Amino acid sequence: MDMRALVTGATAGLGAELARQLAADGFSLVLVARDEQRLREAAAALPVETEVLAADLTVADDLERVAARVADPARPVDVLVNNAGTGILADFHVSGVDEERRLLDLLVWAPMRLVHAALPGMLDRGRGGILTVASMAGRMPNGTYSAAKSHAITFSRSIAARYRADGIRATALLPGFLKTEFHERLGIDRSGTPDIIWASVEATAREGLRGLRKGRSVVVSDWRYRLTAPLVPLIPDGAMGGWSMARLDRRDAEGELEPTNDANAR
Ligand SMILES: NC(=O)c1ccc[n+]([C@@H]2O[C@H](COP(=O)([O-])OP(=O)(O)OC[C@H]3O[C@@H](n4cnc5c(N)ncnc54)[C@H](OP(=O)(O)O)[C@@H]3O)[C@@H](O)[C@H]2O)c1
Repeated sequence: MDMRALVTGATAGLGAELARQLAADGFSLVLVARDEQRLREAAAALPVETEVLAADLTVADDLERVAARVADPARPVDVLVNNAGTGILADFHVSGVDEERRLLDLLVWAPMRLVHAALPGMLDRGRGGILTVASMAGRMPNGTYSAAKSHAITFSRSIAARYRADGIRATALLPGFLKTEFHERLGIDRSGTPDIIWASVEATAREGLRGLRKGRSVVVSDWRYRLTAPLVPLIPDGAMGGWSMARLDRRDAEGELEPTNDANAR
C-alpha cells in the first residue's frame, strides 16, 4: 500500500534521519523546513517520491499552508512527524519577547495545529501515526524550552489516549543530547563536552519509529537516557536551574551573555 509521511524540520539532524528511515521503509515523503534549496537537495537524495514544502512554521500563513497539505484528502498523510525545533540560549529575564513567542509557536502551536489538521482524515481512514519529537528536557524544570517540550509530551500522550481505539497511534519521542545542528544554531560550543552524553541520531530515529509502529505513547531514546531517566525526578529543581543551555555555553566563556540568541530569525 502506498503510504506517505510528512516530516517537519526534515533538512537537518534528527528530521533528516527520520525522513531517510521512513523512505527506507517505503514511505513517500513531504518534507517541510524553511530553506527551500536544502529541501530540494534533501528530496533529491531520497529514493522515493518526495514533495517539498518551504514554510516557516512560526508564520501563520505558512503554517496554514502546511496544515492544508496535511488535511488534503486527495493525497493523504498517513504519518505526521512533528520534529522541527530550536531552543533559546538566553535566560528568561534577558530573552527577547518575539523570540519566546516564536519558540512557543514552533514547539507548541505548530504541532497542535498540524495534529488538528491530520486527525479528521486519519479518523475517516481508521488509521494514522503521529510522532512528536519532544525531549528529555521536557521532564526537567529547565527554561521555556523545557516547558514547551513538557507540553509536547502531555499533548502527544493525550492524543494517544483519546484516539488509540480509533486506530491512531501517537508517540512522544524524548531524545537526549544529539550531535545535530541544534547547538551550533544557538552558538553553543560542544567541544569539551563528554562523549557519553551524545546519543546516536540514527538510533534515536529508529527507536522513535519503532515505538510509533508498536503504539508506544512515550519513547525515551537512546540506552544512556533510558538508564538515567528514572533518576531525573530525584534531581532537586535547584540543581536543574543551574544547568540551563545558557550555562552549558558559559563553561569556558567569562563574557556577558548576549541578551537574545535568535536562532529563528532569517
Ligand atoms: N539536538 C539535540 O540535542 C536535541 C535533544 C532533544 C530534542 N531535540 C529536538 O529534536 C528536534 C530536531 O532537532 P535537531 O537537533 O535535529 O535540530 P537541527 O539539526 O537544528 O534541525 C532543525 C530542523 O528544523 C527546521 N526548522 C527550524 N526552525 C524552523 C521553522 N521555524 N519552521 C520550519 N522548520 C524549521 C530546520 O530547517 P530550516 O532552518 O531550513 O527551517 C531543520 O530542518 C527538535 O524538536 C529538537 O528540539 C534535539
